[in-house]
Amino acid sequence: NKGNHRHFMEKEIYEQPEVTAHALGHYIDFTQNRVDTVSGIDFARIPSLAIAACGTAYLAGLIGKYWFERYARLPVEIDVASEFRYREIPLSPRSAALFISQSGETADTLASLRYCKGLGLKTGAVVNVGDSTIAREADAVFPILAGPEIGVASTKAFTCQLAVLAALAVGAARARGTLSEDEVQALVKSLAEMPRLMGQVLNSIQAEIELLARELSKSHDVLYLGRGTSFPLAMEGALKLKEISYIHAEGYAAGELKHGPIALIDENTPVIVIAPHDRFFDKTVSNMQEVAARGGRIILITDEQGAAASKLDASHTIVLPAVDEIIAPMIFSLPIQLLAYNTAVFMGTDVDQPRNLAKSVTVE
Ligand code: F6R
Repeated sequence: NKGNHRHFMEKEIYEQPEVTAHALGHYIDFTQNRVDTVSGIDFARIPSLAIAACGTAYLAGLIGKYWFERYARLPVEIDVASEFRYREIPLSPRSAALFISQSGETADTLASLRYCKGLGLKTGAVVNVGDSTIAREADAVFPILAGPEIGVASTKAFTCQLAVLAALAVGAARARGTLSEDEVQALVKSLAEMPRLMGQVLNSIQAEIELLARELSKSHDVLYLGRGTSFPLAMEGALKLKEISYIHAEGYAAGELKHGPIALIDENTPVIVIAPHDRFFDKTVSNMQEVAARGGRIILITDEQGAAASKLDASHTIVLPAVDEIIAPMIFSLPIQLLAYNTAVFMGTDVDQPRNLAKSVTVE
């Protein structure tokens, strides 16, 4: 049932404040502002963490890597599952591995899980479908509680995966003593505020996104740029746009632009720059400057502080509320998803069932 939405994808985008709150509530005790001790993986003892997943779940894992490394000082080895299992990565049996999958049935992710079990690693499944094969075979299950996701393009499962990975990373930091109790509390407080901020953003950007999507639907190629956790988000933005609108799109690390992709820039190539006002903002803006100098059309997605600080003329700026760094990837997912969705609606594609794609990929 789509309710009063045109597509399941739209309904699922708008469900995110509710489902992410549900997901976070499973790992965080909001009354005490503390992360519950996660059972199943002994984050205090493992020397490193491996992560394998496919598609959007892989991009959630990449953002998770930034968090586990920064907050819990835990080295993370991550790859797309179809490469992970054949790379013969030197993995210690004292390590643990996480497998992220909405469906819990993705063949390559399941094969990576079996491979790690065979090597003696402790395994954890970050899954939406609780009675799936990956959930059954893993030593520990970390549910993302997004509810059924019908649209082939993943939206709410992505932000719920992020919510769970953020909670696990903060839990790991607490277990490993890599952050002070105050720092942990501050992160937990930011996470607690996230669902409400998501609601606020969803209610405020729709009209603006529709205008931009109309413009985007005329493009043949779109570039997405970001730094830090906004880099995987740039790749997710490109993936979302290409899978439902069939417009060619690529996500790049903002700093990589000058090493090749800048050759693509002309006045017909929109460049979507994802830049919250974080530690990387000035660097990203200077990369944006390089695009502007070559006549590129820039759509800047930033926050209030970023909009005030960038003196550059973007052809359009989407301004979100200023939020703490740990929740920025979830909040900035919203304009990214809505932009892809509305562009596809303009193009008249089958948004919930894009050509050539299946919701669950059970062949390798
Ligand atoms: C993208 C998308 C796919 C899936 C990928 C993994 O919108 O939906 O890239 O993320 O096929 O699927 P799961 O998470 O079920 O393992």
